Amino acid sequence: IHNLETENSILNQFIAEIRDTAIQRDAMRFRRNIERIGEVLGYELSKTLTYPEEMTQTPLGAKEISVPQKDLVLCAILRAGLPLHQGLLNYFDQAENAFISAYRDHKENSDDFDVVVSYLASPSIENKVLILIDPMLATGKTLENTMKALKSHGTPKQIHIVSVIGSNKGVAYVEKIFPENTHLWIAAIDQELNSKGYIIPGLGDAGDLSYG
Ligand code: PRP
Repeated sequence: IHNLETENSILNQFIAEIRDTAIQRDAMRFRRNIERIGEVLGYELSKTLTYPEEMTQTPLGAKEISVPQKDLVLCAILRAGLPLHQGLLNYFDQAENAFISAYRDHKENSDDFDVVVSYLASPSIENKVLILIDPMLATGKTLENTMKALKSHGTPKQIHIVSVIGSNKGVAYVEKIFPENTHLWIAAIDQELNSKGYIIPGLGDAGDLSYG
């Protein structure tokens, strides 16, 4: 687990703004902050990729340069994952991309819910580095079901999960169910998950704040 909150940086400013109810009214700023967080988390994650050497021709000569591996698949979990995905795509411009939908299907007269996957478009993830992108990690059910749904597209050699705010419980659950070669990149972890499965204090509903 790479919890970026523990290393103070400019990231703290973006996190403070997305949590702040007054600033949240500006949906464009909210989306842009989520995107900026994606850029920062993507940069941090890039330090753990592998870097094969490639010969690069300059106008005056040639130089061998270590460039990041290209076998990345960025998977956006709809809806709230879209601006975070864009942040990563701003840096990993040659990555392949997958899109998956997941929504909470609430059972009648109960706080209980299932997470339903109904849309999936993905390239093969066989032996590639898979980056799962979702700003909120509450119970971890969405990530669990996303991973199950992606199984039909192959087995990745490594998984990175990129998230913005998680609950203690959700983070522990993901740690338990994902394979050992999984890294979690997260900007903040909050203590509480309420009976409805919302992170407290969290920031509210990232999908609604981004898209209404
Ligand atoms: C929210 C959030 C995550 C998920 C996290 O999505 O964006 O995808 O819940 O919860 P979990 O860890 O308990 O599964 P939501 O279902 O509200 O959809 P949205 O992104 O379209 O708003």
